[in-house]
Amino acid sequence: MIQYNASQLLEKINAYLAQMPYSRVPQGLYDPIEYELSLGGKRIRPVLMLMAYNLYKENVDTILPQAAGLETYHNHTLLHDDLMDKADMRRNKPTVHRKWSENAAILSGDAMLILSYRLMSDCPKEKLKEVLDVFTETTMEICEGQQWDMEFETRLNVTVEEYIEMIRLKTSVLLAAALKIGALMAGASQVDAEMLYDFGVKMGLAFQLQDDYLDVYGNPDIFGKKIGGDILCNKKTYMLITALKEADAVQREELERWLTASDYHAAEKIEAVTRIYNEIGVDKCCERIVEDYYNQGLDILERLNVPVERKEVLKTFVCSLMGRKV
Ligand code: IPE
Ligand code: IPE
Ligand code: MG
Ligand code: MG
Ligand code: MG
Repeated sequence: MIQYNASQLLEKINAYLAQMPYSRVPQGLYDPIEYELSLGGKRIRPVLMLMAYNLYKENVDTILPQAAGLETYHNHTLLHDDLMDKADMRRNKPTVHRKWSENAAILSGDAMLILSYRLMSDCPKEKLKEVLDVFTETTMEICEGQQWDMEFETRLNVTVEEYIEMIRLKTSVLLAAALKIGALMAGASQVDAEMLYDFGVKMGLAFQLQDDYLDVYGNPDIFGKKIGGDILCNKKTYMLITALKEADAVQREELERWLTASDYHAAEKIEAVTRIYNEIGVDKCCERIVEDYYNQGLDILERLNVPVERKEVLKTFVCSLMGRKV
């Protein structure tokens, strides 16, 4: 059986995405869609979907519509997320609401959600219901996660457990669903599909923790987003929650002052909060928990009832994600 590696799968996905037709009018609706999808991105979710399928079957091309649907959906969430997070930069380019307008981010984002459903449902009739059930539950959960993320901005007492549940919903379930749908499309057993889902949840938690870490400690030219955006929005990340828990009286007073300040220089706030993070050592705490979830994920993959050598591609791919700087 042919087994494709990540770069071969990426090539297939990019070729499929590039031939999707956006030559309709009004251009104001379609240009932002084409812009967002042409800026690349890592394409993690469709790659995971094809890899899960390829554990069982080799004709991965047959699920390219679903893979493209998932990537289109992911990019839809980014248009809306950047608006909600007031983010100016993504993939080293201006975000859609900065380049066009807030209305463009809303409506082109909506159109991408619709397109994603069209692509996802372009699948054999006997698979349609189970695929759409997984996809719809996932997209609903992501809205829930995004809502918690926003509500946590104005709370000071968010717990680590609440944070983990929030990132499970906003991020993990999409990686998990990618794997599960890929497996289901290949006719894998329910047990296998569920195990791949659980593996995706753990990897997704590690992935979002890493994203939050890079939002503070990343190199903006490589990461492609502005550093400190989460600090400016008072996002309750694992690092901030840990800092609030471990801070001494002086640090806590300073942190709370920044969290409630309304008039400040952005650079000063980012610098001050990062300094407190460094004093407390939350960067190291974050690195440890990323590693922990990553290993929990690998344990699940280890137990998946598929020949060891066939799981190697997936293992190499998630391993490369963990060391990511982008
Ligand atoms: C960004 O996802 C949103 C998060 C869940 C952190 P990615 O880091 O996968 O974004 P792209 O598609 O590669 O740009
Ligand atoms: C991503 O969370 C979650 C979704 C887009 C659904 P973030 O807000 O951390 O993602 P980035 O950092 O903007 O990519
Ligand atoms: Mg964001
Ligand atoms: Mg966000
Ligand atoms: Mg982020």
